[in-house]
Amino acid sequence: MGKIKAAILGAGFIGEAHIEAVRRLGLAEIAAVAQDGQDKADQAARQFGIPKAYGDYRDLLRDPEIDVIHNCTPNYLHYSINKEVLESGKHLLSEKPLTLTSKEAEELYLLAKDKKRVTGVNFVYRQFPMVQHLREMVRNGDLGDIRIVRGHYLQDWLLYETDYNWRIEPEYGGNTRAIGDIGSHLFDLAQYVTRMRITEVLADRAVLIPRRRKPVAGSRTFQNGDVGETELVEITTEDYCSVIVKFDSGARGVFTVSQVSAGNKNALDLHLDGSQATGSWRQEEPFRLELGYRDKPGETVRRDPVMLKQAARPFVHYPGGHEEGWADSMRNMMQNFYAAVAGKAEQSDSVASFKEGYQIALINDAIVKSAETGSWQKVEQVDHAHALQ
Ligand SMILES: NC(=O)c1ccc[n+]([C@@H]2O[C@H](COP(=O)([O-])OP(=O)(O)OC[C@H]3O[C@@H](n4cnc5c(N)ncnc54)[C@H](O)[C@@H]3O)[C@@H](O)[C@H]2O)c1
Repeated sequence: MGKIKAAILGAGFIGEAHIEAVRRLGLAEIAAVAQDGQDKADQAARQFGIPKAYGDYRDLLRDPEIDVIHNCTPNYLHYSINKEVLESGKHLLSEKPLTLTSKEAEELYLLAKDKKRVTGVNFVYRQFPMVQHLREMVRNGDLGDIRIVRGHYLQDWLLYETDYNWRIEPEYGGNTRAIGDIGSHLFDLAQYVTRMRITEVLADRAVLIPRRRKPVAGSRTFQNGDVGETELVEITTEDYCSVIVKFDSGARGVFTVSQVSAGNKNALDLHLDGSQATGSWRQEEPFRLELGYRDKPGETVRRDPVMLKQAARPFVHYPGGHEEGWADSMRNMMQNFYAAVAGKAEQSDSVASFKEGYQIALINDAIVKSAETGSWQKVEQVDHAHALQ
């Protein structure tokens, strides 16, 4: 059998990471790329050595050679493109957030269930070996009962009023920014690792830079430096949010997200305070896990296959000390997604489902409502909303 043929829709920051990660598998090849316009598509095809270039993704979806679509376009295109991909009968790995609204996410969840293709949402932080190790520790009761979940996801790339990106505009990024863009990763990770559900939230969100300088010519994700002529525009999406939460187990949690915290680049930290021990993982130093105890010195578990739980070992590719990081977690995502596409394995639960993507949208809804009303809000649960389906 030949290689599985994949196509990338949107070859920007994350599209490039998908291309590289798929190529590391050897199981699939990047056969086509689509961009908004033929010139941009041709340019991406040249840059990444991809045989086919489409200036309109709809033409790509009609290409019978393509088996798998990676939707790496900006948020506002996720719903419509994901829907068309599902209807085309191709497998689909969507970037997060799944859609701009929970209503759209619900529709895609139901459609994906109906179509029975391999689908997933790229909540990539699930794919780190030490995250898998921590999850297994929780399952085995090594930390005791989880009582408190603390976490933050802090960045600084939107620190200055001159920093700008499509994510800032609700039309393209959605009505929430820090919450939808990076909070979605944090809430997904907290639920995935603990296997607990966030059921209630109390949130405070703030636009800390009410006016920003928008480059007239547009800007790329994480772009720094001179962007040319700018215009001053009003901002409505939040730079910051803190939320305290209740889990279905009775555990409590507190999370902060910010895109204006200087010195923090991609600082996603998760701490689980259990009745026996605390487990802490920091994405910027992803190769270790810190364990804290009341009655004995703390421990550091390193990303060494011989020291990891069995469940975490498939996520490690090199011996201890030969460090693996974010790009390797992308490779793990592809490995787990494509194993299901190739029919070699059931879909791994490390690949977030559309149902889970929908649940994150419902958490985001509750956070927005809580911040608006200043009151605790219950999070609607997908399993309750669809109890009869
Ligand atoms: N999972 C992760 O860790 C992670 C990290 C970064 C970004 N993302 C997600 O990936 C998506 C893209 O983000 P980015 O940072 O790569 O943005 P980006 O602006 O760098 O790239 C977006 C790309 O989409 C292309 N595009 C726009 N309209 C298109 C269309 N109609 N058809 C085809 N291509 C089109 C643009 O030309 C650009 O190349 C977002 O939804 C974001 O939330 C996820």
